[in-house]
Amino acid sequence: MNETKLKQLADSLTVKEKVAQTIQLNGDLLIENDVMNTGPTKELGFSDDFDLSAIGSIYNVNDPQKLYKIQQKIMAESKHKIPLLFMSDVIYGFRTIFPIPLAQAGSYDFELIKEAAQVTAKESYLSGLHVLFSPMLDLSRDPRWGRVMEGPGEDVYTAKEFAKQVVDGYQGDLSGDVVPENHVGACIKHFAGYGAPEAGREYNTVDMSNQRLFNEYLPPYQAAIEANCLLVMTAFNVLNGVPSTGNRWLNRDILRERFGFDGVLVSDYAAIEELQAHGFTKNQKDTARKAMEAGVDFDMMTPVYANSLEALAQEGPEIMSLLDEAVWRILLLKNKLGLFENPYRGLESEATGQVLTEEAKAVATRLVEKSSVLLKNEQVLPLNQQQKIAVVGPYGESKLTIGFWASVSGKPQDSVTLKEGMEQVFKQEKLSFAKGFNLFDSYEGFGPLKEGIEMLNGKIEPEAALYQQALATCADADVIVVTFGEQFLESGEGASKTNLQLPEKQKRLIKGLAALNKPIVGILYTGRPLVLTDIEPYFNSLLLVWYPGTMGGLGIANLLAGKAVPSARLAMTFPRSEGQIPLYYAQNSTGRPAVDSTHSTRFISKYSDETNEPLFSFGHGHSYGTVSGNWQQVTEAETALQFTYQLTNQSDWQLETVVHLYVKIHAASIVQPVKKLVLSEKIVLTAQENKTAKFTLPKAALSYYDNAGVKHAAAGEMTFYLSTVNSEDSLTINL
Ligand code: GLC
Repeated sequence: MNETKLKQLADSLTVKEKVAQTIQLNGDLLIENDVMNTGPTKELGFSDDFDLSAIGSIYNVNDPQKLYKIQQKIMAESKHKIPLLFMSDVIYGFRTIFPIPLAQAGSYDFELIKEAAQVTAKESYLSGLHVLFSPMLDLSRDPRWGRVMEGPGEDVYTAKEFAKQVVDGYQGDLSGDVVPENHVGACIKHFAGYGAPEAGREYNTVDMSNQRLFNEYLPPYQAAIEANCLLVMTAFNVLNGVPSTGNRWLNRDILRERFGFDGVLVSDYAAIEELQAHGFTKNQKDTARKAMEAGVDFDMMTPVYANSLEALAQEGPEIMSLLDEAVWRILLLKNKLGLFENPYRGLESEATGQVLTEEAKAVATRLVEKSSVLLKNEQVLPLNQQQKIAVVGPYGESKLTIGFWASVSGKPQDSVTLKEGMEQVFKQEKLSFAKGFNLFDSYEGFGPLKEGIEMLNGKIEPEAALYQQALATCADADVIVVTFGEQFLESGEGASKTNLQLPEKQKRLIKGLAALNKPIVGILYTGRPLVLTDIEPYFNSLLLVWYPGTMGGLGIANLLAGKAVPSARLAMTFPRSEGQIPLYYAQNSTGRPAVDSTHSTRFISKYSDETNEPLFSFGHGHSYGTVSGNWQQVTEAETALQFTYQLTNQSDWQLETVVHLYVKIHAASIVQPVKKLVLSEKIVLTAQENKTAKFTLPKAALSYYDNAGVKHAAAGEMTFYLSTVNSEDSLTINL
């Protein structure tokens, strides 16, 4: 629709109708027999005369038939025929579920990350969805927080690249009038700083300096906005004393003015209503005012806007114009999605409902292979076809491998188990399987879902018998593969932990298997870095697969068999103990660094009961071969530095190696980290190949912000580190 007509439509709405456009409700709650029912809204506190058919959006209905019927009803019954906007929590896959984002980030295969996002967009588009509530871009350095699984980890550069690729993959080329077919809008989240809750406790206060905000926590969102993401979601947390969802400075001065975001800002679930619980607003009317003043366009799942905005708008022109602004952005978004021309976009194609195609599954399998991190390998991997392999542990046959945030649209029953994957890659007569231990101690908490979970994960059996059976299964094996770690509910939203160790029963089994004196390969399933310090020595090899998604079993089996070669590097630090947290690589040196300090050993920055070092650092990862890297030269152009370096594949494997470029800026007005990742390249090396490669680094990538948000160019001495998974070369220049 042309904007003149759209403006006429906007102007034709009554205040009540404008307010209704700012309401977003969970469609599942409101849909009965495929139509909207008003029952639940009364429970939510909406007034009796609230017109449900006039709302702006529903979310988390993912069935194409259902969405078609709902849209048909809205278009038939609503006065202005304004199409409903369909959004959903599709975080790392619609029906083809990919490895969790924390895993994908570590692949450093940004093209493949984009390809996975394109698959997700297409499956979502063909199911009738318009907007996805992802990518989640909350930088986090605290594995006690369960949502680290959902984001791109601890590093700014990695998070920015991840942001750009996913937004581009979802939205495609926006230069036309409408979002292209097979593409959807990206709603990045959670703005801002949600990944830094005090004590790692979910929804807790976030408080940090402005320089940390500008240099570390805001850039991933900013990168998505520069990639033209169409929506942003607010965060639950207080940021520096003001709740993000009611924060005018954050949402207007920074998001819209400084970053130039002109899209739609949607609140997180009930986050507007929670402004009162934060102690930020006095009552519902005050809440509505403050959220509207902070520029929040959609009120997700609360009656605050519905019950209070009309009166506020009629009391004063300021709120009325803010309401008009919000409605205009919502209508522009619906227009950008082409909904006025076709409210049923994606729902009338021959391919409607198409998911889990062979090509989609092939992308997912490749991303499993490239996201799994080989943490340790004492030459036990890859396995060969002659070995008798005992696979012990619940993840041998469990389908619960898609993680916390995938089952809004994904189905665990689609998952390829490790057993199924290994049986495709190894001779079946060489394989034996044992459960080892129960992934859940009980299914009671699942209520009505108990049957389904039991189907997917097997019955709960006596632990002692499982233990004995496991040892017996390994008796004549040549090598033991043991699967262990978290179950999917242990991470994700509302899953903060103070203890990151494995359960005792898992430790006991691992130690019991180690006592058999056979090579042991550990396969770790987890949504967060765990504390493995006491158990790591029992493994000869350790492969971290995170939650690998639908094709996990096949991707892992390919890695175990050497059909694929590990190349991933950790996107988040694994601490040695919880007491070190937050522990991350890009930290400051302090005035008394634990190394090279002139002070006595007591009076330096260290602990008396633990080292400063992690168990596995950010960037850690092995492959089946080693690659060395050496600087050749660096040349300075006006706006960029060009580095030339040499890589040597010291193995007979073809390797895809992730090369990192880190920098240490020796002196600056805002103290710079001991190391900061500024570039990553993926280089293919044939067996024994020597290759010369180049990095081109814009000097702007070295700049930093001060506490007033003013940008400074880096100058003076700086050291650049060329890092492969098993080598590092340094080069110091004066800029
Ligand atoms: C949740 C999450 C958010 C999600 C929203 C809708 O609480 O914080 O990421 O998109 O509510 O389900």
